[in-house]
Amino acid sequence: MAQSLGLGWFMLLVAVVHIEAQHTPSLMINSKCLGNILRVDVGPLAGNLEVSVVHNNATFLLTPRLASQCGFSLKMDPMGHAVIYASLHNCFAQNVDDKAFTTKLNLRLRRSRVIEDELYQVVETCHYTTWASREIVCENNYIEVSVKKASPNDYALPEYTISDNLRFGDARRAAEKPIDAGFRITNLVFFTPKERVMKVIDAQRNGYGIANMATRLVLRSPKTSSETFTQNVAGVPMTVLKTLTVFEKKWLVTQIAAEAACPVLEGSVSFTPNLINWFLPRHIDPLISSGQFKLLEVHMGVNGRRLDSAEMAARQYSLSLNGHHIVVGIPIGAEGGHFKGHVQAGQYLTTYTIELMLELRWSEDATNEDTHYKVFLPVTTPLLSRPVQVIDNTVPKERLFKVLLGPFGSDVSLMNISFPSEVLSVADCNARGFKVLEHMSPNNNSKVFTLEVPFTDRVVLALRDTGITVYSLHLTFGLVVLPEFAPFCHTAKLDAQLVDIVPPALFGGCDYQNFYILVKYGSRGFNFQTLVGTQVLTAEMAQQYGFMDNGTHFSFNVHFTAPEVVTEAVEASSIKNRLDVYLRNPGTLTNIKEFSVACNFYSTLIECFPNGTMTALAIKLESVPSLNLSQLTLNDPACGPSYSNDRYAYFVFTASSCGTTRKFVSSKMLYENEISLPDELELKRDSDEPQYELKVSCSYDINTNHAVSFNIRPRRSDPYAKNARGELKVEMRLAIDDSYTTFHGIEEPIAKSLQQSLYFEVELMRSTNPAVSMELAYCWATLEDDKASLPRWDLIINGCANPRDPQPVIFHPVVFDARVNYPSNFKRFEVPMFVFAQNKDNLRHQVFVHCYAVICDVRHPVHRACNVQCSNQDDRMKGQKRAVSEDTSFKHVSTGPILMMS
Ligand SMILES: *[C@@H]1O[C@H](CO)[C@@H](O)[C@H](O)[C@H]1NC(C)=O
Ligand SMILES: *[C@@H]1O[C@H](CO)[C@@H](O)[C@H](O)[C@H]1NC(C)=O
Ligand SMILES: *[C@@H]1O[C@H](CO)[C@@H](O)[C@H](O)[C@H]1NC(C)=O
Ligand SMILES: *[C@@H]1O[C@H](CO)[C@@H](O)[C@H](O)[C@H]1NC(C)=O
Ligand SMILES: *[C@@H]1O[C@H](CO)[C@@H](O)[C@H](O)[C@H]1NC(C)=O
Ligand SMILES: *[C@@H]1O[C@H](CO)[C@@H](O)[C@H](O)[C@H]1NC(C)=O
Repeated sequence: MAQSLGLGWFMLLVAVVHIEAQHTPSLMINSKCLGNILRVDVGPLAGNLEVSVVHNNATFLLTPRLASQCGFSLKMDPMGHAVIYASLHNCFAQNVDDKAFTTKLNLRLRRSRVIEDELYQVVETCHYTTWASREIVCENNYIEVSVKKASPNDYALPEYTISDNLRFGDARRAAEKPIDAGFRITNLVFFTPKERVMKVIDAQRNGYGIANMATRLVLRSPKTSSETFTQNVAGVPMTVLKTLTVFEKKWLVTQIAAEAACPVLEGSVSFTPNLINWFLPRHIDPLISSGQFKLLEVHMGVNGRRLDSAEMAARQYSLSLNGHHIVVGIPIGAEGGHFKGHVQAGQYLTTYTIELMLELRWSEDATNEDTHYKVFLPVTTPLLSRPVQVIDNTVPKERLFKVLLGPFGSDVSLMNISFPSEVLSVADCNARGFKVLEHMSPNNNSKVFTLEVPFTDRVVLALRDTGITVYSLHLTFGLVVLPEFAPFCHTAKLDAQLVDIVPPALFGGCDYQNFYILVKYGSRGFNFQTLVGTQVLTAEMAQQYGFMDNGTHFSFNVHFTAPEVVTEAVEASSIKNRLDVYLRNPGTLTNIKEFSVACNFYSTLIECFPNGTMTALAIKLESVPSLNLSQLTLNDPACGPSYSNDRYAYFVFTASSCGTTRKFVSSKMLYENEISLPDELELKRDSDEPQYELKVSCSYDINTNHAVSFNIRPRRSDPYAKNARGELKVEMRLAIDDSYTTFHGIEEPIAKSLQQSLYFEVELMRSTNPAVSMELAYCWATLEDDKASLPRWDLIINGCANPRDPQPVIFHPVVFDARVNYPSNFKRFEVPMFVFAQNKDNLRHQVFVHCYAVICDVRHPVHRACNVQCSNQDDRMKGQKRAVSEDTSFKHVSTGPILMMS
């Protein structure tokens, strides 16, 4: 270790300290008097430091040899701070009566070749008066002992010849007692332990420092010299310096003995994995001549500074005395020391270094002399393998790998991180958003690095498997130990699992009257609320909608008329309704899922009753939101809805009220009305919306049916109508006589003699509408059931009796009676039987009578058959016979057979 101290010293003078900072930090210089020692702290250096000592306007570059000879010591810590220790009795101090000592240092900092050197001067004066009879200092590089001369006197100060080596000028010889100005030091006697005499000048050449101060003799030896010897003291090896200094004056000779003993590091320190123990003999035999020994004080310190017990306790240092030793215990890593990194075979190792100090004071009764003993012991542990840990602080939910790597000493720097696909420098990482940070712990100069890598980055491997994604991060940290830039690396592999976030899913459909909604829950913890239309699904609504939940799904159904449903369009017999369902994030109120289902539902919106009553349901359309349904009216603005709410308006009216119109379209009779907003209200509405117009029509198909149709549409689109069919029937029956009160039964054979007449009645069945008339366009008789068979006898042509018939049919008026509510719906006529007997030979036994009827609007007769004016008999005679052609508007009715008897 002694050797490595020397090396360290050498390094301190030449080493370039690497500091990563871009700017040059300002140099801090701080000096402090620590008893018989001056301490100067310089740093941070970031360059080469050269130290010189100034003496009488001359400067001396401090080389290692000059330092150990003259009482200087230089140390450097890994943070780039230099510490200069100087003995107060150093060769160059300006000494005032051994009480005040001024040391002047010149510092030259060479940061680089391009920057001019920086020069600093340190001047410090230390006062120290409590000199013991003997003061011993064991420094890293020298051993110093100073002893009080028998009595203070007035010798001249030694003179120094300035050259490479320090030399005393002409030393004075001193008489045995007192050592007055006439005495000079001539020889030194070393005990190795064999006696060896050396001239002062030779001793100085060999690196010894000898100074005859006002009251003290100072002797300094390099830590290793051939005139010292090692002695085992209570199991601790110590380097012993034992001298006699010979003073001469004329023929007088006197001498002063001075001895020192300093522990050798190797034998005085032991290490456990966590602790440094330093043993110092409490009775340093070579320094104690008499048996009467008394240990007065023991102090412990670090970096040259004494610590009190509170400070020691805070740092968990221990100091104890046992039978033979003073024992100092230091936990490895404790404050006051520092770690240094090393790389061996790619492994990161550390050493811990701390500069310990012990100060003792003892006295010997026999000589009445006391000794102040100060020893510095820089202790460095053997290489320690302190496992670097990778701490995975990843919280998968944050979708971010969080890694902590450490601890490292403060001299470790992270250079790069290698991923399987690429290598990124720390700057690259930060640019990429990986957040690489260095965290220093101020107490023990240890650091950790943290890194964050988002799961989404391409260096992260994602493996999906049935609802779980495994994210993997493989990385190698590339690190170096400064200032050597010794590289090493640390590999880590991290995995994180994340249950896939699956949002809920919505499905839906309809049957003939309900919407069905099925919601599949997303992954666990996916919180949402359900909106039906604009309403949040409450427990109450859920119950109403048959809500069911089986753990993985829930379902409910909504009737197509429910308030949450909107109507998109209305068609003949169906309405197109839509249900909107939203799954919403309750926190942000944003929709996670939107779902709409629209279906056509069969619905009777308009009904036409046989008694002429019509009803219509006007439904609010989504496209006309501002419409107030209660304000809708039929053609007649006085006819409003008989009931309305915000969703529909219900109208009841008759074929003859509320402006209902009637129209004949081929075989149909149409009653029409329209539901809309009265014009003056329409004008006030928002013009952006389409107008609301519901056409209501009931159509009676003359063939057989009555029809209902309606149309509801905004007026901007093409209008359309659809028909539904109902029954409208015409019936023909045969009365017994012209009173038309009694009729032959349907199945009953009818027998008539040729002298009799046949009394026919035709009725438009189920009509309750007085404004409708039924007219007979054509009637004829056949012998066969088939109405197209021949021969045929025309009875009524174009609504009038056949003019060619010698015995034309006779029309009978129809009047109200118990059976006839609407005479216009009836026609009666009489046919003489002999009409069919023109040819008696051909007389058959049966005839069939057929008619074509038309249904007419009394007020607006459209069909020509509705508008017949039969002329008098003569006119009729002249009238043209028209072919009986089928007209689709004709309603055919037949009766028969009518049996004829002769
Ligand atoms: C140091 O130099 C200065 C100026 O050159 C001079 O005044 C002073 O006397 C010198 N000191 C010594 C001790 O020689
Ligand atoms: C340094 O101190 C911190 C707390 O300040 C502690 O977490 C860490 O383990 C210490 N490191 C070492 C190497 O002792
Ligand atoms: C990364 O850093 C390591 C350790 O400091 C070093 O050995 C290696 O060359 C660096 N790799 C790259 C690509 O810079
Ligand atoms: C829940 O209901 C849905 C839809 O009917 C079905 O697919 C699912 O299997 C059901 N889940 C359970 C756990 O019964
Ligand atoms: C017409 O018929 C419907 C249905 O049978 C009935 O509700 C209504 O009251 C009737 N109207 C009249 C005026 O008789
Ligand atoms: C709709 O119109 C009716 C009659 O004019 C009125 O009483 C009612 O307040 C209106 N409703 C709304 C929602 O405007």
